[in-house]
Amino acid sequence: MSNLVKNPEEYFRKFIPPNNELLAALEEEAEREGIPIIGPLVGELLFILAGVIRASSILELGTATGYSAIFLARGCEAANGRVVTLESNPDIATRAKENIHKAGLQDRVEIRVGDALEEIKRLQTSFDLIFMDIEKRDYVRVLPDCHRLLKAGGLLVADNVGFEDADDFNRAIFDHPDWRSVTLFSFLPYHSPEHDGLCLATRP
Ligand SMILES: C[S@@+](CC[C@H](N)C(=O)[O-])C[C@H]1O[C@@H](n2cnc3c(N)ncnc32)[C@H](O)[C@@H]1O
Repeated sequence: MSNLVKNPEEYFRKFIPPNNELLAALEEEAEREGIPIIGPLVGELLFILAGVIRASSILELGTATGYSAIFLARGCEAANGRVVTLESNPDIATRAKENIHKAGLQDRVEIRVGDALEEIKRLQTSFDLIFMDIEKRDYVRVLPDCHRLLKAGGLLVADNVGFEDADDFNRAIFDHPDWRSVTLFSFLPYHSPEHDGLCLATRP
């Protein structure tokens, strides 16, 4: 017989890290407008991971309103790090810029407006952490550039790998000898969606 808590989803919903006013407002806005954001739990995870690896250079693919970029930027503050984040939709990128300014992180975050599949090719500097959150079918297409840009021992995090469109990516990273990866299927309260996969990988 298992000793698992009863109603685990109800139980784990109690352990959501509290957020400040700006992040809470972005969560409400995302809910209202159907903007798919990572939510407070995965946000805190990114904050912790960026801090633990002392990331000083972070690349994000898929900015939306800047919610996840705020966690990444705060996570790399101790290492005086910087975040480059790529967004194809100019209107939402403008909103992200405003939000990042409100968070006081404008000197730490650079938003580049354009297609991540093209923008990533122009990048030459390497990164300690790469966070993927664009169209899931494109994850597999940017994987070679992520491999080129991620420092040895760096961390790649891919959101939404429970989506059917991430299947090619999941197989590619699992099979590739140059990556070590774990793909977790989790209950992620207030993440879009709440049942989803996350991939954490490194290139040794
Ligand atoms: C899931 S949302 C990102 C959410 C954000 N990371 C967060 O949690 O706060 C995906 C975003 O990626 C953008 N996007 C999708 N495909 C893209 C591409 N090829 N290049 C750049 N941005 C893209 C979309 O416009 C959208 O704003």
